Parts: sequence; structure tokens; C-alpha cells
Amino acid sequence: MTCTVFRIIRRQTFLLPCLLLVLMANGCQPSASSSNEILIGHYASMTGSEATFGISTDNGIKMAVEELNAAGGIRGRKVKLITYDDKGDAREAGTAVTRLVTKDGVVAVIGEVASGLSLAAAPICQEASIPMISPSSTNPKVTRIGDMIFRVCFIDPFQAHVCAKFAREHEGLKATKAAILTDQASPYSVGLQDEFEKSFGAMGGTVVSKQTYQAGDQDFSAQLTSIRAAEPDVIFIPGYYTHVASIILQARKLGITQTFLGADGWDSAKLGEIAGEAINGCFYSNHFSHEDQSPKVQEFIRKYTAKHQQTPDALAALGHDSAMILFEAMKKIDSLDGVALAAELAKTKDFDGVTGKISIDADRNAVKPAFILEMQNGKPKYVTTMKPGE
Ligand code: PHE
Repeated sequence: MTCTVFRIIRRQTFLLPCLLLVLMANGCQPSASSSNEILIGHYASMTGSEATFGISTDNGIKMAVEELNAAGGIRGRKVKLITYDDKGDAREAGTAVTRLVTKDGVVAVIGEVASGLSLAAAPICQEASIPMISPSSTNPKVTRIGDMIFRVCFIDPFQAHVCAKFAREHEGLKATKAAILTDQASPYSVGLQDEFEKSFGAMGGTVVSKQTYQAGDQDFSAQLTSIRAAEPDVIFIPGYYTHVASIILQARKLGITQTFLGADGWDSAKLGEIAGEAINGCFYSNHFSHEDQSPKVQEFIRKYTAKHQQTPDALAALGHDSAMILFEAMKKIDSLDGVALAAELAKTKDFDGVTGKISIDADRNAVKPAFILEMQNGKPKYVTTMKPGE
């Protein structure tokens, strides 16, 4: 296509000004799509130790794109999704987002799941005035990067409060002593650790042991031995599923019988596959439960399962909801200029998503309830819902 354009230019120099005019009318961005398509970007861990995060989110976004396009797109224009694999790496995330906003000319970016990666790439979107919607990064700092950065999920001070309250009050737990095992290089993990410690302390609990690990570690026996000696009632691991599963397997081998508790980073079909029976009876907080009987959720599960032969997890649902609020905003404005689009996204109110009602607050976050799930026979089972302000 580019070659043809240049051959024409060489032969007929008078076409050059016309071509430039067309490019300028398109915001100077020669779109990578052939036609009149609207491009949106997604950066995600499609491979690596958090691969299910990216794959599920991408599936959810694609479902929303297909539905939108089948219904006529945005004022007759189809939406095209460009997804880049960042392999769960901060540097790769930056490269992917730079490419989306500078080369591909996307009008908006969806991603990342992991807070550390959203924090790495959000400044690029902010700088380029391209709205970014994180489906699932819960660290408060993410949306503080600037007025172009949004999320459709709750944030970690709330999530940690929910976990602490559950640890203190749940009939089978009534914990007064907690141990915490944190991924020290992950802003998500460190943020949750701090907030959990605050909330648990304020509720009369004591953190009796604080241990750390780093993504990539294989052997957790030193940390687990210290935790065992501190005799906690509950062990909080604010990490991602691959590490959580191996930590719990190793803990059981060391004779640690206590209940483990975690947060949304546990949510992956792989968690139960890797940890097996070792994780039975452990709990985590999440954004979604497939047992939610609302017609909206059940319809989503039916469509998703038909397509992927797998029950959707929270990330599939949040990916879907991110795309949906983006399309709603796009439908309401005439130009797809980034600043106008961000202003419209900021007005999102009571959007009926698969993960509940989404209203974007003054800090560009969503305020939503959390679900507590219990691992049973390798699968998460619904236990209870905790609402903000309770
Ligand atoms: N909240 C996690 C983070 O901020 C990401 C996550 C969300 C993982 C939902 C799984 C499910 O890093």
C-alpha cells in the first residue's frame, strides 16, 4: 500500500498536497487499518507466568468488539483491536504502548492487568493524550498518573479492608494473628500488604510475621519456616497465581495447615490446576463470581463458554466491561480526539456491566463490591459479597 502510494507520488507530484491534506484530516496518523476502521489497542501478558491474565482479558475485549461490530460499530465504523504481548514485563509494556500510540494510531488503550505494568505504561498514554482504561489494576497510584487514565475496578485499600474484615470475622477463621508473604518487587503486592496490615490492626488483629519473595523465586522454605514459627491464624499472600500456587504446595509439605487468604491476583484457572488439594479451603477476594445468577452475568458466561469452552474468570469479565464503557463513550461524541474521549469516559455513570454497576468517580476509579471466593476441588466457590462502606 505504502509502495503504491509512493509510486503514484513519484509519477504525479501534484497528488502530494492532496495526500498530505487527507493525512492531516486524519489527525496526521496514517492509520494501520485499511479502511475506515477505528483502532483500539490492548497490551497484555499473553505469555509468561501471568499469561491467563492477558489471554482472558483479550477474550473479553474481543467479545465486546465482535458484538459492537455486529450491531453496526460506532456510527457505521467498525472497531479493530490491536493486541501486543508484553510478556508480563514492564519494559515490554512500555514498548507495546509506545507502538500503539505513536505507530498504530489507536484512539484508546486497554490494559494492563498488573498494576506494576500499568504504572510503567500509563505515563506514555497520558503524555500522548490517549485515554487508557485498566480493566483490573487495583493499586491506587495507577489512575493518579493523570486525567487520561481510568479503571473499571475497585482499588486496593478497599480490597485489603475486605480481606482483613473477612479474616477477622468469618466464622471458620476469626483470626487475631496474621502472617503476610509479599512479592517485594510488585507495587500491587506491597500496596496490599501495607493496607492489609493497617486494616487488620485497626480491627484488633496483629501481624505476627512479614516475609517477602520476588517474582521468579522457586524456593520459599526459609520464609515459610519463619511463618510457621510465628503461629499465625491466617496467612495472607497478596501475589499472582503461579507463585501463590507453588508457595501453598511448599507450605503444606512443611506441615503448615493454616488457611491462606489472598486477593484478585489469585484469579486464574491455573491456580487450582497447579495447587490441587493443597489450596482447598483457602479464600480470595475478587471482582466476579460465575455463580452470580444475574441474567447479565449468566448470558455473558453462556456466550463466553460457547466460544472458549472455559468458564470466564474476572479478567474476561473486566476486559469486556472496559471495552463496553469505551464504546459507550465513543458513541456519545462526534470526534474521537483523546481529550474529548477522556472527558466522556469521566462521565460514565451506572453503566450496567458484567462485573456490576460502573460509575467513574472523581479519581477515575470505579467503586464496586468485592466477592469472597473459597477454593474447593480446584475451583473458586462463592462465599459472600462485601460492599464498599460496610
Ligand atoms: N489487581 C491486580 C493488580 O493490580 C491484577 C488482577 C486483577 C489480577 C484481577 C487478577 C484479577 O496487579
